[in-house]
Amino acid sequence: MAGSVHVMDHPLIQHKLSVLRDKNTSVKEFRELVSEIASLMCFEATRDMPTEEIEIETPVGMAKVKRLAGKKMAIVPILRAGLGMVDGILQLVPSAKVGHIGLYRNPETLEPVEYYCKMPKDIAEREVYVLDPMLATGGSATAAVSFLKNYGCKHIKLMCIIAAPEGVKRISEDHPDIDVFVAAVDSHLNDHGYIVPGLGDAGDRIFGTK
Ligand code: PRP
Ligand code: URA
Repeated sequence: MAGSVHVMDHPLIQHKLSVLRDKNTSVKEFRELVSEIASLMCFEATRDMPTEEIEIETPVGMAKVKRLAGKKMAIVPILRAGLGMVDGILQLVPSAKVGHIGLYRNPETLEPVEYYCKMPKDIAEREVYVLDPMLATGGSATAAVSFLKNYGCKHIKLMCIIAAPEGVKRISEDHPDIDVFVAAVDSHLNDHGYIVPGLGDAGDRIFGTK
């Protein structure tokens, strides 16, 4: 099935993103905002989750109610920066399992290098959300999705906060079957592979390493 790119222009997401981009935003506030934006994006991205009708008894009478049905969720943050999105999503879906994939970009080639991987045993049976605040060249996200497909995952979505057009193109060409959720698509990549205007280095701003 063909996936598509969804730009989440909800005013609350856009407002928080405006503060996130500001170079004067503190590490503490940056970290909180990444988490809050991830929550709001999760709320929107899970809109089509299947439900089933059941009957329960309230203190006043019987009620037909809906509860979640269908596949269970797993989230897979790309280390490091994807970690910043985990808590925000677990607040909404506390039963989600969490896999980790460690990738860093070689600063010269911009190619992703894998250094860690630990997945839930039943990952192939789950609806998987790959998390990374930044989709720049798209190399890291493409590698993570390929990796999950090799594990047998068939239902994969990608959630990023800011994307470059180059990254959107790459993921759409390499993995046309997956849905991609972003809060903004920016202008372009600079010569160092940074998104312009972007927000700088997401990992460094989340963890205060610069
Ligand atoms: C950043 C970001 C993505 C990747 C995006 O990670 O968090 O994982 O770059 O770039 P790409 O689309 O060109 O692959 P980085 O390599 O800086 O590692 P970090 O999260 O550990 O800081
Ligand atoms: N990774 C980041 O953290 N920021 C960018 O702009 C590009 C890649």
